[in-house]
Amino acid sequence: MKKPISGNQYLMKDGKNVWLDDIKLDDFIKCTELPIMVILENRIRENIKSFIQTFTSTIPNTECFYSVKANFLPKVIKVIAREGIGVEIVGEPELDLVLKLNIPGFKIICGGPYLTESLIEKCLQNDIREVIAYNLFDLKRIDYFAKKYGKIQKICLRINSQKYNSNLGISFNVQNIKILKRYIKKFQNIEIETILSHYTTQMNSLELFKRNCNSIINALKLLKDNGIHVKNVNLGGGFPEAAIMTKNQLRKVAILIKEMLIDHSIDLDKIYFEPGRYFVGDAGIFITKIINVLENRWIYLNIGNNMCPKFARCSLRFYNATLIDSPHKYKTSIGGIVPTDQDVLVKDYFFTKKLKRGHVILITNVGAYCLTFSNRFPYPMPKIYNIIGNKSELIFDPKRDRDFTLN
Ligand SMILES: Cc1ncc(COP(=O)(O)O)c(C=O)c1O
Repeated sequence: MKKPISGNQYLMKDGKNVWLDDIKLDDFIKCTELPIMVILENRIRENIKSFIQTFTSTIPNTECFYSVKANFLPKVIKVIAREGIGVEIVGEPELDLVLKLNIPGFKIICGGPYLTESLIEKCLQNDIREVIAYNLFDLKRIDYFAKKYGKIQKICLRINSQKYNSNLGISFNVQNIKILKRYIKKFQNIEIETILSHYTTQMNSLELFKRNCNSIINALKLLKDNGIHVKNVNLGGGFPEAAIMTKNQLRKVAILIKEMLIDHSIDLDKIYFEPGRYFVGDAGIFITKIINVLENRWIYLNIGNNMCPKFARCSLRFYNATLIDSPHKYKTSIGGIVPTDQDVLVKDYFFTKKLKRGHVILITNVGAYCLTFSNRFPYPMPKIYNIIGNKSELIFDPKRDRDFTLN
């Protein structure tokens, strides 16, 4: 009987075999040089369905925008868009990409700490649903271009989530509210429609969601007291990988948010979310090989922090696919191929007793932010395959596509 690996129904084992959806791993890698990355399309679809079902059954006016920076492979964006999800993007290369993929303007929200003039112009030319401003000064710039195009641009204000030490977003203090009131009067070609608070990444406790929701509620109150009405709130992303965050925990988050809004008698047109990691995190897997084994139970894989960087904050899990039926209970440390002692993937991880060069190792939960934060250390990039059912498609080949960056 097949059993899930890493809490993922599309990554299974039975006896000595590992299955990537309906494809047997051994058959799949027979003629392929490792390392490779695989994307499990069905897992992305399932994660989206869980998220949407959980939230819309609790908060019916939920709408989702996928945070494209989590994984901007065109195939991944297409799969997500086909599920009816919009996109949240931060810059022009992403905007060019999503427009090329025929995602319509009303499904795009766009903005970040660095709004170039050409990005603002492109947003206006393409009727982007909301432009997200991270500081008040940008309102002036957006209004200028909106006037030029004879349009009224809807705006989302990113507010400072009041997380300790965070400088991202607009602080809603007396001074800034005064400026905002003045700008709203003065700038006739923008309309503040939404406020956004994104707290942090990998939020696996209700307390963090509560803090984020509180920062939105406080901001809404302050705006109301100053005669400013916004229609929607955007609570950002920050959900862990779906394999890590149980559906039950997700439901608790949805209920918490709903109850907090009810308690404060807050009535909104829409509640937006911008999940990145939850949709794609556990749909990405690296398939690698052991290239060196030391006496002290350190093993080295043919991938390291160049492709699987700490900065991506993934919930990494490691499996010896060659000995998948052996117990993983012997402490082992795992390093990568960047020639520095800092290239450590994990220390004292429970692994198989036998460790041999050539063993095939799976690293799970690498679908979000690994490619985004990967660096140009001079090793070849891995091929990337999309798998659905018993079909696989090569979606990135370093020889053909050269690079998966956006420029
Ligand atoms: C504003 C905003 N929204 C959404 C996200 C996506 O976050 P996650 O992938 O953790 O869901 C981020 C990530 O940094 C963000 O800054």
